[in-house]
Amino acid sequence: MQDSFEKIISEIVKTSRDMWSKGWAEANAGNISLRLRPEIAQDKTTFQPRSDWVALDMKFPNLAKERFLITGTGMYLRNIEISPANNVGVIELDDSGGQYRLLWGYESGCDPTSELSSHLEAQAVRKRVTDGTDRAVIHTHSPNLTALTYALDLDTLRISKLLWEMHTECIIIFPEGVEFVPWMLPGSLELAEATAKGLEKRRVILWQFHGILATGNNLDAAFGLIDTAEKAAGIYLKAASAGPISNKLSTEQLQALARRFALKPDPSILNTRI
Ligand code: 13P
Ligand code: ZN
Repeated sequence: MQDSFEKIISEIVKTSRDMWSKGWAEANAGNISLRLRPEIAQDKTTFQPRSDWVALDMKFPNLAKERFLITGTGMYLRNIEISPANNVGVIELDDSGGQYRLLWGYESGCDPTSELSSHLEAQAVRKRVTDGTDRAVIHTHSPNLTALTYALDLDTLRISKLLWEMHTECIIIFPEGVEFVPWMLPGSLELAEATAKGLEKRRVILWQFHGILATGNNLDAAFGLIDTAEKAAGIYLKAASAGPISNKLSTEQLQALARRFALKPDPSILNTRI
């Protein structure tokens, strides 16, 4: 619930503190964006134009006039709680969705995150495919998931099945699986486009040798997806370090979970053998 801008700030403070405490956010790692609800975004006392219009790498027509709370580039997530206005900003897109300007924050003089293209592409796709429900995007450097991209040859089907098999919660929390994106330059349009393609069908995207991005209707939902996938990756690594993994959830057990919780898991993942 976005009751007030103060409440939203307290949510991003909590989320960023939790990301740091979990070991997902070394130095300036990770970034967060939240599409503001109109009743908050239209607060004329708090939000006033504070910069010229800046051209985006591409146009986002379905995000025209939308306003986003978004972390600043180079800022440490662990410092948001000390000074939200230094580390986070509110930007608005113009009526073509091709430019943005600052309305609040970035008082340290920073710009929006270098992953702005990925955040806006993600926000645009998820706004479309969820009829406007999804509003939050989190990217972070979760170590267990990232370690798996070094240790194993992965693709979307393999990482999804592996996580489902290693923790009972996974198929319940992300029955559509996790999209795997091979390494691409951080901050690049190429990475943003590959991410957006995955988000047509899934809410969690694993960036090889880098980290994870997840979306949700609020910060808790996006955080919960990452937390669950990261935990399963950690269980896999712990089990593998204790010896060869001799037990994991079987396809039949996964099917039983799907029946019990009325899930529609991606059948191509269910049928994958790893
Ligand atoms: P920013 O500091 O620009 O947000 O970059 C952090 C990051 O994780 C890049 O992928
Ligand atoms: Zn990153």
